[in-house]
Amino acid sequence: MNLTRSRDLLEKNQQLIPGGLASINRKADPCIAFARAEGSRLWDVDGNEYIDYHAGFAPYILGHNDPDQNRAVIDSMARGRSNYGSGPTSDEGELAKLFLACVPSAERVQFLNTGSEATAQAIRVARAWTGAEHVLRMQGGYNGNHNMVASNVMSSKEQLGGKQIRGDEYPLAPLTAGIPEAERALMHSVEFNDFEAVETIARRHKLAALITEPVLQNVGVIKPKPGYLEGLRSLADKYGFLLVFDEVKTGFRSGPGPYHAIAGVSPDLSTYGKAIANGFPIAAIAGKAKYLELVTSTDAQKRVLIAGTYNCHPVPVAAAIACLRKLSDPALKVYDKLERLSNRLEHGLRRLMTDHRVTSTFVRQGSAHCCYFMANAPSNWWETLDGHDFAFDTRYRRALIERGIYQFPIAAKQGSISYAHSEADIDQTLEATDSALSEITRSKARVGV
Ligand SMILES: Cc1ncc(COP(=O)(O)O)c(C=O)c1O
Repeated sequence: MNLTRSRDLLEKNQQLIPGGLASINRKADPCIAFARAEGSRLWDVDGNEYIDYHAGFAPYILGHNDPDQNRAVIDSMARGRSNYGSGPTSDEGELAKLFLACVPSAERVQFLNTGSEATAQAIRVARAWTGAEHVLRMQGGYNGNHNMVASNVMSSKEQLGGKQIRGDEYPLAPLTAGIPEAERALMHSVEFNDFEAVETIARRHKLAALITEPVLQNVGVIKPKPGYLEGLRSLADKYGFLLVFDEVKTGFRSGPGPYHAIAGVSPDLSTYGKAIANGFPIAAIAGKAKYLELVTSTDAQKRVLIAGTYNCHPVPVAAAIACLRKLSDPALKVYDKLERLSNRLEHGLRRLMTDHRVTSTFVRQGSAHCCYFMANAPSNWWETLDGHDFAFDTRYRRALIERGIYQFPIAAKQGSISYAHSEADIDQTLEATDSALSEITRSKARVGV
């Protein structure tokens, strides 16, 4: 496979941009430079074509360059919409109405630009409401790039002290340098699905918030055990911290609303991004009026600043309105189609793994999926670290890319199917997988592993 131009472009950009790209999380091996995308397909600068399952880290639920959404954006610009920087707009009101109709647990919503801004504001609101400062997260959860949450995602065993910790917190494993000591002391991470650990930390520290993805979707797809989310709800009520579901990835992925509506557990606050605008940069924080109205509190000690030059910029707002309309249009049956395609992929992959005698477990939540190369679905990050064959997964992803199937080339990352995918795409993916597995298992047999 020819990736010459991709390599050249990275090298050229590296002279100007540290790492050669604007988000270091985009850097993986192979580091392909894409030039164009449409529907389920990507084309790179060397002219290679791929069926896309990365979906730009999951926002593309309708597919790339959705024509209705693009039209809505172009219309909004043609109508002379601008980012006035003063006063309300009818478009933001319309978006809020559409959005809240999809999120029954929320009475108010504020829009921001990125998921990281949304989680930062959720923590700020929780601190203002509770007067507490400590924040609890999940090992293996990703909640953005800012100090309070930039830790403990795909941590190594070494970073975690060499052993699984149940009933208590893990050592801090920061994703970045530059977090002040004072903030580090307020950051806590426990194992997902470990209810006792949450209670231990809640007893030890006055918590402002527990923030978690309700399904961990940054380390594949790790589901909550029955009763776990309900348990978090009752601990939040018992200890007085706010329960924040970070739905930046789970929101609008399994249905036209949050995952927590499917699970039947209401958080105090929830955060969104990605699928709400099918790839355009907009995010949201939603919740009960009493929390979000802190923005307008007359008590200066409680008032929370949520502001931004680009909050509700007309381009992403038009994109989000068009996206939410499509996602909730009963005539389009978006989620029925996603379910059908995801089911087809799941069954095909299970059959292929059995045929090739590869130990694996396919986990999916709606159209979000991950194939773990281990016997049972992991219920937390440690089990993944311990059981998943990371080396096999890396080879598998590379072999798929060579065959025109783009799964992000980092082991245990989630894949996503969009409304623009077709049954033919899934069948082509299965054929490529068959060939990839033949190659990997053949070379494994040759070296006798
Ligand atoms: C669950 C979750 N929360 C927050 C974020 C941060 O969003 P953004 O990258 O838009 O800042 C992400 C990004 O992947 C995410 O997956």
